[in-house]
Amino acid sequence: MSATGPAKALTPPDISARKGKTPLVCLTAYTTPIARLVDPHCDVVLVGDSVGMVLHGLPSTLGVTLEMMIMHGKAVRRGLEQALMVVDMPFGSYEEGPDQAFRNAARVMTETGSAAVKLEGGEAMAETIRFLTARGIPVMAHIGLTPQAVNTFGGYRVQGRGEDGERICRDALAVAAAGAFAVVLEKVPEPLARRITEEIAIPTIGIGASPTCDGQVLVVDDMLGLFGDFRPKFVKRYAELGDAASFAIATYAQEVRKRRFPAAEHVFGDAPTPVKGGEAA
Ligand code: KIV
Repeated sequence: MSATGPAKALTPPDISARKGKTPLVCLTAYTTPIARLVDPHCDVVLVGDSVGMVLHGLPSTLGVTLEMMIMHGKAVRRGLEQALMVVDMPFGSYEEGPDQAFRNAARVMTETGSAAVKLEGGEAMAETIRFLTARGIPVMAHIGLTPQAVNTFGGYRVQGRGEDGERICRDALAVAAAGAFAVVLEKVPEPLARRITEEIAIPTIGIGASPTCDGQVLVVDDMLGLFGDFRPKFVKRYAELGDAASFAIATYAQEVRKRRFPAAEHVFGDAPTPVKGGEAA
C-alpha cells in the first residue's frame, strides 16, 4: 500500500479520463464494513460530511469537524482496495483561504490515506482549488446546492433555475479552470446539468442533476433505506434495510421476552434446563 492507498486503486487522473465515457459510479461510505461493500462496484468512494447527519444525528453538515472526517476517513481507507477515496473538507476548515485549506487538506490526506479531497464552492473557491492542485492535493469540487451553505440558500432548494443558471455555469467553468479533477453537481435542473457537462472538460458527478452528468453519486444510507423516512425526489431506494433491521430487532426483543432466544443451539454446555416463566424451546 502506498501513502494514498493500495497500488491498484483508481487515481484522480483516471477519474478525469472517464469524461464522456462509461458513467462514473460514486457512493458515500463512513465505515469499514460499508466501504468493503461498495468498493468492488464504485469508481469513487466519498467520505462525505453527510456523515454528520446520517451517523451522528446532526441537523445539518455544519457541525461536522475535521477530526470526525479524519476518523471516518481512516475507517473507510481500511475497507477500500480499488475505488478512489475522496474525503470531504468540513465547514470552516478551508474557506478562510488557500493556506488554511492546504494545512487541513494535507492533514486529511496524510492521516487518512485519501488521494483527494472535496470542497464546496465555485468561483469563490477557484483560487483555493488552484493553490491546492498546484501543491499535490487533487480536488473534487462541489457546486449547485452546496449543503454547507444551507443558511445562505435558506433551505435545500434546487439551484440554478432560470437566469440563476448562469451563476452555476460560471462556478463550473471556474472550478474546472482552477484544476479540479471532477465536480459534483447537486440539485440542478436537467438542462443546466447537460449544458455544464457539455461545456467543461472534467467529469460532472450528479446528485439530483439528471442522467446527463458523467457520473452519479448518492448517500449510501439513502439508497439502502437506512436513513429513516428521508425520501427526496432524487434518491432511488434500492433496498429497505431500515425496515428489515427494524423487523429483526422487534423479533429479537419478542423472543428474549418470551425466552425463545437463546435457543438450545445458542447455549454452551450440556442439554439446557427448561426455564421457568418462559417458553423454553
Ligand atoms: O456529503 C456528502 O455525502 C456529499 C454527497 C452527497 C455529494 O457531499
